[in-house]
Amino acid sequence: MKGGVHTAQRHDSALKHVTGQAVYIDDMPEPAGTLHAALVLSPVAHGRLKKLDVPRGSGIVAVLGPDDIPGKNDVAAVGSDEPLFAFDRVSFAGQPLAMVVATTLDAARHAAERATIEIDEEPAILDIETALAAKAYVQAPQTLLRGDPDAAMTAAPHKLSAEFTVGGQEHFYLESQIAFALPGEDGDIVVHSSTQHPTEVQHICARLLGCDFNRVTTIVRRLGGGFGGKESNASWVAGAAALAANHTGRPVKLRLPREIDMIATGKRHPFLYRYTVGFDGEGRVLALDAMLAADAGWSLDLTPGVVARALTHTDNAYWIPHFRAVGYSCKTHKQSNTAFRGFGGPQGVVIMEDALDRIALQLGRDPNEVRALNFYSEAGDETPYGQKVDENHLPRLWAEVKRDSDYASRRAEIDAFNKTSPVLKRGLALFPLKFGISFNIPHMNQAGALVHVYSDGSIRLNHGGTEMGQGLFIKVAQVVAEVFKVDIDRIRPSATSTAEVPNTSPTAASTGSDLNGWAAFAAADTIRQRMIAYAAEHFGAAQGDIVFDDNTVRIAKPGSNQVVSFDELAKLCYLGRVPLSSTGYYKTPKIHWDGAKMKGRPFFYFAFGAAAVEVAIDMLTGESRVLRADLVQDCGASLNPAIDLGQIEGAFVQGQGWLTCEELWWDKRGRLKTAGPSTYKIPGSRDAPAVFNVKMLDNAPAKEATIFRSKAVGEPPLMLATAVWTALKDAIAATGDGRTPVRLDAPATPERILAAIETVRVR
Ligand code: MTE
Ligand code: MOS
Repeated sequence: MKGGVHTAQRHDSALKHVTGQAVYIDDMPEPAGTLHAALVLSPVAHGRLKKLDVPRGSGIVAVLGPDDIPGKNDVAAVGSDEPLFAFDRVSFAGQPLAMVVATTLDAARHAAERATIEIDEEPAILDIETALAAKAYVQAPQTLLRGDPDAAMTAAPHKLSAEFTVGGQEHFYLESQIAFALPGEDGDIVVHSSTQHPTEVQHICARLLGCDFNRVTTIVRRLGGGFGGKESNASWVAGAAALAANHTGRPVKLRLPREIDMIATGKRHPFLYRYTVGFDGEGRVLALDAMLAADAGWSLDLTPGVVARALTHTDNAYWIPHFRAVGYSCKTHKQSNTAFRGFGGPQGVVIMEDALDRIALQLGRDPNEVRALNFYSEAGDETPYGQKVDENHLPRLWAEVKRDSDYASRRAEIDAFNKTSPVLKRGLALFPLKFGISFNIPHMNQAGALVHVYSDGSIRLNHGGTEMGQGLFIKVAQVVAEVFKVDIDRIRPSATSTAEVPNTSPTAASTGSDLNGWAAFAAADTIRQRMIAYAAEHFGAAQGDIVFDDNTVRIAKPGSNQVVSFDELAKLCYLGRVPLSSTGYYKTPKIHWDGAKMKGRPFFYFAFGAAAVEVAIDMLTGESRVLRADLVQDCGASLNPAIDLGQIEGAFVQGQGWLTCEELWWDKRGRLKTAGPSTYKIPGSRDAPAVFNVKMLDNAPAKEATIFRSKAVGEPPLMLATAVWTALKDAIAATGDGRTPVRLDAPATPERILAAIETVRVR
């Protein structure tokens, strides 16, 4: 059989992606009468809405605002305070106020751009510090506490304090937000949405329309990238399209042009950190007292989860006996920040990396020895939230990445280079990663699937996960192929639909293949068991003698050695009136979480990783390059090594973009000015490390019963790019006396690198 689990299979749509034949929503044929929608956005960050007037030229069919919503004007994913269209008060520059629906896209956009908007502008909070001072939060501060950090800090032989910031990040999915809503009979509505969360789209459409969930069907064949940006934000886009379709009785498409998408939707949360760390003379951390302040933007969105994940990843790979991390969710008059690959994890793990480098510098020790000294022990210490760190691969990963990167000799070589090189300086850094897998809201960790075997032996697969380029469909198809022992091309993945598998969780938190893989396994296995039972009866054999193998089914009873093809058995089962369709269901075991106390076992398991990164900086221009990266990622027993390697590479480069070149910039009135590729710089192919050695930890099947002992890979490797930032600090330190700690706020643009060089310059 071809294409079972643990084999390298290309993405099921790979050829269609590269030839342009993959159908995205904007490629779908438009039924006659299709209308197009465009949003009217607030030009002002904060104020009272006085007047809104949209010119009604030719082709304009409707202008919809808050008063045209038959249900509730609320698109919040969590909480209940996020209007689709602002009324009375506007909360950020870019907030939707109304929507124009027209016979052509041009007419809709033309009218939307010419709207007359009068707003009494009020003072806006545009940064974290101001929000902290005003105690402006979208939710109460969260605290993760263990032990007695105050006493431990007082008793610690050494301590140091520091502060730094990291920026946000635009998702920059290639396909901008889009939805296409088609009205049906009796108020039914079908919404094609580029969403990671079809069920939430269904719910929010129903909430806006004031109808039961069963009137709305969400369909998602694929997304042109999501990266977290289509976990909650796709829902309001789809809701707006559904509203217009319901209102006009005609199909309506809403596609946000890139600029509108960037101005109206949330991004990765920027963070400000202040911390004090206490340690002994060897560099062993005794206590951490940290505050993490996130810029949540104007509304709650997914901020509670993001901040919780930041707090539960502040420890990263390290045992910290006395620990306090307080997370502030600052309310500002900006886009409402949201999920982005890593979901707060990247913003959590950077703290200890900063602290350990400073500790090493202060003690004159090798930063990587200090790191290893602080690793969780293999005996299984507990995290500050009380979860045991099981199957700890850190020591092995650390040894491998040091060896693969030739760390010791390159360290010496780079130090020698830096002594004599007047303009270019190089930096080298290692980074260990521990990342928790599961949603820390236990009920979200469930999934369903629906598998049909047709009477010709071909198989149709449906499940609740969405395909956004990450290769989920091929992985889950591999699982089904493995169950039936048939070739992968016998299995047809199909569009995600709330009508086929209901009540789904978002495809997020890297759990797509873990959850849907098991659900599909369950569905396929149910059918397989029925086929076995029927074959035993039909061939007069024991059930244990029925063996599925290589597209065939063997009746291995003593004396006989009959073989039928899988297809023939499917036909026989049909004739024998055996149901060849089944649902499957999975819920992640062992997890529990007390959000108020921040204690429990939020994660089914941890995925580990390690990176060694070398960079170079130019002291005159502040430019930087990643010269080499050696990555090792723990994927358990990978379901699909080809897909997983691609995920590791892509995630790393995306993380590199976050920490180096991707800079969001708002003017003094809170208007986002980096709203397109000309001003917002994502990494290009030439920014990927010149030498890029990527591998998976071999021989590391997951200890927990994950699907075929694989591990999630979607988000964790993004954090391996933390080593780019620490390597840059290493290079910057080399421009001075090498003993001065470096503050380098991210993104480390040329300006910031130059400024940091100034701070360590020896005069
Ligand atoms: N890879 C591609 N090509 N496109 C994406 O949008 N999203 C990432 C990651 N990899 C993404 C991607 C994010 S944020 C997550 S949570 C996971 O994929 C989700 O898919 P999975 O759970 O199936 O890994
Ligand atoms: Mo990914 S940020 O969990 O969608």
